[in-house]
Amino acid sequence: MDFDAKYETGVLWQDFQHKQLIDLFTQVKEARASNKDQNLYRYTVAFLAMYVNHHFKLEEKYMEQYKYPGRKLHTKEHQDFVHELKEFRMDNKDYSPQAGDDLLMRMGEWILSHILEDDQKLGKHILNWEKTSGKS
Ligand SMILES: [Fe+2]
Ligand SMILES: [Fe+2]
Repeated sequence: MDFDAKYETGVLWQDFQHKQLIDLFTQVKEARASNKDQNLYRYTVAFLAMYVNHHFKLEEKYMEQYKYPGRKLHTKEHQDFVHELKEFRMDNKDYSPQAGDDLLMRMGEWILSHILEDDQKLGKHILNWEKTSGKS
């Protein structure tokens, strides 16, 4: 899964951060296919914990500031994913092939369901807000 136009919202910081996640997903997927994902596992789990914290906070800040109508539901999705990752970390402290598959599946689902749908809508709102309120 490469970062192509369908993932772009047009909001630079958002696209940059989404690309980071999708690039890592692609890297883990390739490593998993050749059974080399063990080395990447700890890094990926740690990265995700840091990433969601930072990225979600930023999106939530914009949702608040730009009065995004769907912010309640969007924030709930973020919180649910943070919770899901936390549980995953507790259940899978160490690498196993099954944990590797599980992690990939969760990342892939998040990319498809959240980045490709919810974040697209948010991105449109941000662009529109900045256009109509004269900010750049
Ligand atoms: Fe989001
Ligand atoms: Fe996002």
